[in-house]
Amino acid sequence: MQCSYFDAVACRSCTLMGQAYPSQLAAKQRHCAHLLEPYPDLEWLPTVASRESGYRNKAKMVVSGTVEEPLLGILDAAGEGIDLTSCGITGEELRDAFPVLAALVTRARLTPYDVPRRRGELKYVLLTVSPDGELMLRLVLRSTESLVRIRKHLPWLLDVLPALRVVSVNLQPEHKAVLEGDEEIVLTEQATLRMAVNDVVLHLRPQSFFQTNTDIAAALYRQGREWVEEVDPASVWDLYCGVGGFALHSAGEGRAVTGIEISPEAIASAEASRDEAGLPGVRFAAGDATAFALAAPAPPELVIVNPPRRGIGPDLAAWLESSGVHRVVYSSCRAQSLAKDLAAMPSLRPRRARVLDMFPQTTHYEVMVLLERA
Ligand SMILES: C[S@@+](CC[C@H](N)C(=O)[O-])C[C@H]1O[C@@H](n2cnc3c(N)ncnc32)[C@H](O)[C@@H]1O
Repeated sequence: MQCSYFDAVACRSCTLMGQAYPSQLAAKQRHCAHLLEPYPDLEWLPTVASRESGYRNKAKMVVSGTVEEPLLGILDAAGEGIDLTSCGITGEELRDAFPVLAALVTRARLTPYDVPRRRGELKYVLLTVSPDGELMLRLVLRSTESLVRIRKHLPWLLDVLPALRVVSVNLQPEHKAVLEGDEEIVLTEQATLRMAVNDVVLHLRPQSFFQTNTDIAAALYRQGREWVEEVDPASVWDLYCGVGGFALHSAGEGRAVTGIEISPEAIASAEASRDEAGLPGVRFAAGDATAFALAAPAPPELVIVNPPRRGIGPDLAAWLESSGVHRVVYSSCRAQSLAKDLAAMPSLRPRRARVLDMFPQTTHYEVMVLLERA
């Protein structure tokens, strides 16, 4: 893939830009295989490739420039805005919507936040697209100063962007490099974006995590379901469950599935999806994954873990090691953390593994491993 921003050194986020895609995939496979060398019996399933471009379902754009001429993109080292509205890894529906969002900035007089001077209101626009092409827009603001004007122009916005389903304002009053604050004000009647993934409909609320690349997320959940179905366990935990992708794909007749996630917003999304699908055997709870496991009266037959980049950490690894759980499905976005966690669970042997390319043009990838108690 070729990118004019990369070539002009305006944005260097995609560090593999320009490298042939098959060679990117081969390098990721080699990188992962090297980290998992301590397990020579591991069976590698074929790498899952992604679309090379337009794969991102979410754009996080810093807003800079002026009310009359807003810029959506990133800031350079000097704090100057760089327009990235033609970013080629961003989904086409998102790119098509950026000019309308720039027009909203001008219409509603949303002063872009000026980082060096600590002045202005609009910090970021966060835009997500569903597999059906529907959109969720979040405006990250310093205060509620412009809220009335945003509400006033909302009918216009919904008219010119008919795919827009959810619009919200997130308040981030502090001058720090944190993307968003705790307070979210939903402005539309609809508060969740409908994400149809395989045969499961997930309801995404504004503050919940969702995997970056929807096609590859679908492949992850299919792989998870396949491994669960092979074992046909009576009880499954999905730890770090987010909006419940693995848990809802693991539901089955007579099977108790429990999803645990730190974000109450994500749990509310997961519960809404479960209720709509009518899956009484699936239960969700907000909380820390490790604390939940350590306090549970009995372990389940199979555990799925899909932690953040830091991995599951020593305490949960130690609990899994001694728990008697027979099978673990570990989905990781950082193979170095996976390798460290595996080393802490010698009784759970990696049997099968698969690299899935969640992030083309970058060195990042997802890897799923099926572990079995030796
Ligand atoms: C890589 S995401 C995976 C989400 C989900 N499995 C999916 O497919 O969308 C990791 C998730 O872990 C959650 N998380 C972070 N720390 C946690 C903790 N200590 N206990 C439980 N969940 C946590 C995050 O909020 C995030 O939703």
